Amino acid sequence: MDSIIVTGNGPLSGRIPIAGAKNACLTLMPATLLSDEPLTLTNAPRLSDIRTMTLLLQSLGAEVQGLQEGQVQAMSSHALTSTRAEYDIVRKMRASILVLGPLLARFGHAEVSLPGGCAIGARPVDLHLRALEAMGAELDLREGYVHAKAPSGGLRGGIVEFPLVSVGATENALMAATLAKGTTVLKNAAREPEIVDLAQCLRKMGAQIDGEGTDTIEIQGVDRLGGATHRVVTDRIELGTYMLAPAICGGEVELLGGTIDLVRAFCEKLDEAGISVEETADGLKVSRRNGRVKAVDVITEPFPGFPTDLQAQMMALLCTAEGTSVLEEKIFENRFMHAPELMRMGAKIDVHGGTARVTGVDTLKGAPVMATDLRASVSLILAGLAAEGDTVVNRVYHLDRGYEQVVRKLQGVGARIERVRGE
Ligand code: EPZ
Repeated sequence: MDSIIVTGNGPLSGRIPIAGAKNACLTLMPATLLSDEPLTLTNAPRLSDIRTMTLLLQSLGAEVQGLQEGQVQAMSSHALTSTRAEYDIVRKMRASILVLGPLLARFGHAEVSLPGGCAIGARPVDLHLRALEAMGAELDLREGYVHAKAPSGGLRGGIVEFPLVSVGATENALMAATLAKGTTVLKNAAREPEIVDLAQCLRKMGAQIDGEGTDTIEIQGVDRLGGATHRVVTDRIELGTYMLAPAICGGEVELLGGTIDLVRAFCEKLDEAGISVEETADGLKVSRRNGRVKAVDVITEPFPGFPTDLQAQMMALLCTAEGTSVLEEKIFENRFMHAPELMRMGAKIDVHGGTARVTGVDTLKGAPVMATDLRASVSLILAGLAAEGDTVVNRVYHLDRGYEQVVRKLQGVGARIERVRGE
């Protein structure tokens, strides 16, 4: 397995291009199953998760081509051969569950393996299933698969009240509702930019959707959807991650393609911590105002609140802040696995349940550390950028799931970082 070696660095400077959003692409790709006409996505990120989704769609008989080095996903589902998503692909990536709604809506039946949990939590899919049942679906869970059947006339519009905000369940329900007979209303829907991006793509395909980006989305079902070409929205989590590089190291870095609306709550916390963010013609310019980063308190919430996917990275910044920060992880039950690794680097972190208290230290010391999940792995790299000496991050395959060319992008702004091929 490969590892990445980061050597503590002085101030960074330069520009980092931000790619298309992994979490938008992973719901836009299954949308091809809703139509027998081609769907083309541009600005797609080149990530292992996208390759996994490609394999899943191809296993159903969809044609998926990564053109222009994978930045364009040209897809067609006019000749599907199966509506069964096999465990050996689904177990690699939870987002595979997002083929369930589209398959059920278009073909009236589907068998999708339950995704199982992952490092950050059990991550059930009960809200996905309840939403589809509200549209008339009959669901039978057996041998680790969801066996789903629509009523003979197809899914019916219904009222879906989510007891808690779920990005994936909102996406599955939204896609299914586009072909359901009648009106569907999603209440307490997720408001993430990736949901807005999906709705905009579905509308180009002929769907009738109102209210995306608010907590109530209304969909008028249509008989069929056509093809479309859609540009994947900028990845707000990659954006926020790289904004923290100059925040941690000092210097000034411009994040190309970044816009404030994608990271407003995050920017408010950076401002409190003494980091300045300036909108430019090409993106966002980030620098650390003079002096030490200040401690801030963080609570993760559904959008537009502070994103859980930036919690680990923010903790890396706060490890060397002046004062004590309290981070509350409200979305997932086990998302502090980066804390023990940061403590190996000298951080002072006290974790109790969903709360972590971080007492800033003057500096961190490089050490061998282990990546445990996608966002934890990049927080260790960020910490290594400002630590004294070398940090060796192992199990970096987690990184490849969500960060395209992380070494090259950071080298481009002066970071001393390299990837070492493992056995
Ligand atoms: C999406 O996961 C993202 N993944 C996650 O990003 C992100 O952390 C999460 O949303 C929250 O923003 C993709 O978009 C592919 P949820 P998702 O359903 O949809 C519970 C990354 O690092 N829940 O909003 O799975 C769940 O356990 C990944 O890129 C149920 O109880 O998240 C969690 O506690 C990590 N039942 C909470 O809701 C359900 O049926 C929010 O989960 C569904 C979810």
